Parts: sequence; C-alpha cells; structure tokens
Amino acid sequence: MAKTIIVSNRLPVKISKTDNEYMLSTSEGGLATGLGSIYKQGDNKWIGWPGIEIDEKEDQDNVSAQLAKLSLEPVFLNQEEINQYYEGFSNDVLWPVFHYYVSTYSVYKQSNWDYYQAVNKKFAEAVLKIAEPGDVIWIHDYQLLLLPALIRKELPDVSIGFFQHIPFPSNELFRLIPWRKELLEGMLGADLIGFHTFDDVRHFLGAVTRVLPVNASANVLTVDERLVVAESFPMGIDNEKYASLPLQKGVLEQKALIKETFKNSKLILSIDRLDYSKGILQRLQAFEQLLQQHPEYCEKVTLYMIVVPSRDSVPQYAHLREEIDKRVGNINALYRKMDWTPIHYYYRSFPIEMLSALYSSADVCLVTPLRDGMNLVSKEYVASRVNDDGVLILSEMAGASKELIDAVIVNPNNSGEVCNAIIEAINMPLDEQKRRMKQMRQLVSKFNITHWVKVFMDKLKEVKQMQRSMQTR
Ligand code: G6P
Repeated sequence: MAKTIIVSNRLPVKISKTDNEYMLSTSEGGLATGLGSIYKQGDNKWIGWPGIEIDEKEDQDNVSAQLAKLSLEPVFLNQEEINQYYEGFSNDVLWPVFHYYVSTYSVYKQSNWDYYQAVNKKFAEAVLKIAEPGDVIWIHDYQLLLLPALIRKELPDVSIGFFQHIPFPSNELFRLIPWRKELLEGMLGADLIGFHTFDDVRHFLGAVTRVLPVNASANVLTVDERLVVAESFPMGIDNEKYASLPLQKGVLEQKALIKETFKNSKLILSIDRLDYSKGILQRLQAFEQLLQQHPEYCEKVTLYMIVVPSRDSVPQYAHLREEIDKRVGNINALYRKMDWTPIHYYYRSFPIEMLSALYSSADVCLVTPLRDGMNLVSKEYVASRVNDDGVLILSEMAGASKELIDAVIVNPNNSGEVCNAIIEAINMPLDEQKRRMKQMRQLVSKFNITHWVKVFMDKLKEVKQMQRSMQTR
C-alpha cells in the first residue's frame, strides 16, 4: 500500500542526554501537530535529524529504536556536518539571503556547499531506503532544497511535494548565491512547490525563468516535459488547541497571577525565537522611543519579552543575544521605578500553558519581524483571544500580514510608526478591538493547520493527475 513520507531537517521531537540515557519528548510545534494526522498512520514515516550529535553506533541504535515507536526515522549528522551543512550553508548562507539580510562581506564557502550537497544526499539515501514508486513524499524547508531532484532521479514517477517555510527572495538577491542554478534544479524535482504567500511564488517563478531555461505559464512550469506547479498555501495553526487552552483551570490560574502582577499597566507581549530576522532590537528601539518621547506612558505599559534560544552557536545569533541583553539592561536601568520595570525579559522557552496564559492576558501583541515567511505567533495570539479583545500590531514584512489585515500593520524599520502603533493599540476602544479581532479569529479558525495540510495534499494529487493526462494525450 502506498505510504506518505514527511521529510524535514529536524524531527518533531526534542532529544536530551542525561547521564548515558537519551530522553525523547515530542514537540508542540505547529508543523508536528499538523502533520501528526499523517505520519503516525499505517506505514507512514517522518524522516529527519534528531537535533543533537550522536556518534556511537550503540547510542544511534538505541535512539533509532525509540524513534521507530513514534514512526520517526533519524538521519544522524556528525559535528562537521552540523557545522557546515546546518550552521554554515543553511543558516549562514540561505537563511540570511532568503530573509533579505545580505552583507557586502557575505562569504560563500565552497566547503559549506559541499557539505550541503552531501547531507542532502544522505537524506535522499534515507528516503530511498523506504520509498516506493506509488508513495507521496512531502519535503520541508530550505535545508533540503536539493532533495526533491535527488529523489526524482531514482523514482521518476513518485509524488513529491515541497514546502518552503521561509520567504523566497527577489531574484536580485537570490542570484547572488553562487549555486543558484543547482538550488533551483533541486527544488524543481518536486511536482508541487508551496510557499506561504503569493509574493514568494512570484519571486520563485521570476528566479526560475531567469536562471534556468524553463518556461512558465502562470504558475505552471514545464521541466523536462514534466509539469511542476508553484502555489501559495498560507500555513495555519491548531486553532482549537489555542482557543481551548485559555479555558483550562491551570491556564486560568496563571492568567489570574499575570493580571494581578501587571494590574497597573497595559501588558505588551513579544515572543520570538532568537533571530535577527525577528526585528527584536528595532522593537526595543520603538519601545524606548515611547518611554522617552511620551513619558506619560512610563509605569502605564510593560513589555513582556520572551526570546526562545536558537542557533546560538552561529556567531550572528550569539552576538544578537548580547546586543539584546545590553539594550534591555539599558532601558530598564534608565526608566525603571521602584515598583515598575519597563521590560520583563526572558531568554528561555516556556510551556504552552504559560504561553496561553500570556497570549490571553496581554492587551497588545507586538509582532514586528523585518522579514518572516508567515509568523505563527501572530495567529496564536489571535486564536487565544476568546473574548475578541486585544490588539495585534503586525509587521507588513510577515507573511501573516497578507491575511490578518485587521491588525495594526506597521513597517518594523520605522520606529516612530511602531511607537505610534503602540499608543494607538493601548488606547483602542473596546468595540474597535472586538470588530478587528472577530474578523481575524474567524480567519485563523477557518484556515487552520488541518485545512493547510489538506489543501496542499489535494493539490499534489491534482498536479499528479494533470501530469498523467498530459502523458496520455
Ligand atoms: C524556522 C524554519 C524551520 C526551523 C525553525 C527552527 O521556523 O523555517 O525550518 O526548523 O525555524 O530553527 P532550527 O534551526 O532550530 O531548526
């Protein structure tokens, strides 16, 4: 029987090592939830890296056995592969360029590229070990851009979907990468290539038709007489989970505590993974501007800022962390009062119950990435507002801004605009808050993660049928 194989760089589990034991905990991530209905069924599998270096054969066997029980199949990476494929090429070349963060001094190291190719081949071997011609293979994200073509070469008729979770840049940026041609050829091994927004699709089609001798008719490409479709599929969240959590007893208790702690001020929430694309420093600048230029808001607003540790072995990330520490320290030192601290800053991850308590307590959620494929925090905030109140301030550079048009939309680089948006948000009349939030809640609830998975899978089937009917003509 045909099966579905999900492939992503990271498996949807966290593995930690205590003494000599490897402990597994399943991920709460949106993708893991959304694809749970697929990979846990029958012979279906999810293939990916377990997230830590495990070198000993005995340990690998032990972890593989634990993962197998969860329908997960590991691809183990050694330290050099982690350094060069994951940190080097994926996160020091592709991530910055795809997020429009290009420096004149960017270094494109041949060895990073060599490892990127080698690790993509390693993933291909893992897939080909279990894949058969009738299977459906769904590959995720920029770490595996070469994988679709590597699989296509061995299994010419298999169904391959590819979804990119980060933006696809304008060709003027994309073409800077020395291996742009190979990257696009890799992606075109897929039958269906998905992005979050129409702009990403447009950029991708622009790059393909300029870099390769491939023709496009609207969003349909012809690659070696095979049809390939590129389309936007804005990702959703597990709306039911976020809408029901705020009603749970434990969450209600935490919420009461938060309300009591911040009873004298408006609470502004900010939650991100540590990343320069998230605009955390720019956000701090706008918040400082508020305190400096509008002192009447001192003691009346508090910024609750969570930064979730991420990729801190990549130098830019370690540096960013230091900068955030400094900036928060400065603002708190300058404006703090005996019974008011302007920024409550946490550099750690929080359990989902606490996040829900924060989402459902915060008067404002400030989401101002400089560039973001989608941004699910904005949707999680909306889904958590079960009373329809609260204000979302959202960057126009986040994919989510194309859907959440009732948010207060800002340019994250314009600190004056963000500062004014905060003032607008904390003074927004309740009926306007409700009018906007209701619209956004309807959208987030309807276009949820289950819907996203279904629409992508249905389209993949449709593309396969289109290809078959072309062949029989
Ligand atoms: C983004 C990417 C994912 C990635 C995640 C966490 O959402 O689109 O592919 O898994 O960040 O980053 P990490 O490097 O820790 O996997």
